[in-house]
Amino acid sequence: MNLVVVSNRVSRGKANEPMTGGLAAALLPVVEKSGAIWVGSSGRVRDGAHKEAFAEIEALGAGALAMLDLPAAHYGGYYEGFANSALWPALHSRTDLIRASQEDYLSYREVNAFMARALLRFQKPDSVFWIQDYHFLALGAELRDLGVTDPIGFFLHTPWPARAVIGGVPHHRELVEAMLAYDLIGFQTDDDCENFLSYVRSDLGLAARDGVVDSRHGSLRVGVFPIGIDPEKFAQQAAKAVLHPDVSRLRRSLNGEKLAIGVDRLDYSKGLLNRVNAFDRMWTLQPGLARTASLLQIATPSRGAIEAYGNLQNELAKLVSDVNGRHGEADWTPIRYLNKGFSQTVLAGLYRTAQVGVVTPLHDGMNLVAKEYVAAQNPADPGVLVLSKFAGAANELDTALLVNPHDIDGMARTIATALSMPLTERRLRWEAMMKKLRSGTIQRWFADFVDALQETHADKGVGERLIAEPPAPWPRRPADLSARYH
Ligand code: G6P
Repeated sequence: MNLVVVSNRVSRGKANEPMTGGLAAALLPVVEKSGAIWVGSSGRVRDGAHKEAFAEIEALGAGALAMLDLPAAHYGGYYEGFANSALWPALHSRTDLIRASQEDYLSYREVNAFMARALLRFQKPDSVFWIQDYHFLALGAELRDLGVTDPIGFFLHTPWPARAVIGGVPHHRELVEAMLAYDLIGFQTDDDCENFLSYVRSDLGLAARDGVVDSRHGSLRVGVFPIGIDPEKFAQQAAKAVLHPDVSRLRRSLNGEKLAIGVDRLDYSKGLLNRVNAFDRMWTLQPGLARTASLLQIATPSRGAIEAYGNLQNELAKLVSDVNGRHGEADWTPIRYLNKGFSQTVLAGLYRTAQVGVVTPLHDGMNLVAKEYVAAQNPADPGVLVLSKFAGAANELDTALLVNPHDIDGMARTIATALSMPLTERRLRWEAMMKKLRSGTIQRWFADFVDALQETHADKGVGERLIAEPPAPWPRRPADLSARYH
């Protein structure tokens, strides 16, 4: 099998590379071992890229990494525009933040079409394509339009929200119809999968049962594949990382004080303002916790050119400084707030140092920080995970202290409980979570999806069908758009 994995962001696998997002870091170890070719954006743009795709190709484990320069004229409209100012807010149920112009949508479709053409270069007779995340909802349909009959799967790392919310995305119908070109679509949770099926039934009027959607293009399977981590490897990394100079300096600076840690991309879906408000509330309600427990919040800047992200960065900086100003002392800073990225090694050591991990997004596909925090703990003296019930991870990590991130008082009380939890209870909760992590590893996720994709494709005999009878056309890109490049 010639597996071609596609995602917007890729990772070059350098040990000290700062990790800004779950997807690339999560995929790296499995893609490396699988021998797949991993295709994504180089982060650079190029004029005239649409005429001839330029890819920098390097070895990656048993396979290769191909980084494409994306078309300069469309990159902004695709990445900052439609993907991250229309789809991302909608997928996280923030319809109030949707900003999308027609040009952005056209650019998004252009980049999907560009990627499809570029992928042909990596196609071999036994290819399997696996497309990742919301940047490429229409890539499967573009590949089918180019005559590709190989298995094509898609996995969504974010949530898929309620029907009415998706209805807030301009061109939502066209996009979901384009998604029907995939053989298999994977979601993180049952709720995401159900929401998708409900849209398909009610808005597209299609029959969907037992995870199979029938459309005029044939059938499409949908399923739930919760993404995992490699808990044993992460645990070993964490045990070693406590000796890392950055981690030992942090330990020394604590002087026996307890530490809670939060590590997030600076994104409005992560509930950062609510979290800081909860700590504020906790120190107000329980002044005894001042000096004895502080928060280390790492908020890695992300998508900074987008207004909503710039606004959040300003608001958060102001809030943190206000809370520190009110609760701090000459020799004690309640919140250590850092706006930069760290390597996975350092993060593993920081997680192990903290007695409490706070992962309190308003909505999150999975949230691998939650899983990594658990895996990084010392089995003899594990820390406590405070986890939002709106993170996909809460389905598996149900022995964490689950919180509602909108209930500031409730979160304040729960964080205080976590800080004083006795060892026996901490161990029981932690062992139950580790068991879940061990049974749902990233290796298993990868293998399960690829197996299911191959099976689905074999069952439906797409190749034969497409060759025997020309399929009804996929929802077209707007006409002026195809005319430009063909
Ligand atoms: C989330 C998305 C990923 C994305 C990551 C980082 O995890 O699901 O697709 O790569 O955030 O975001 P960025 O825009 O920096 O790639």
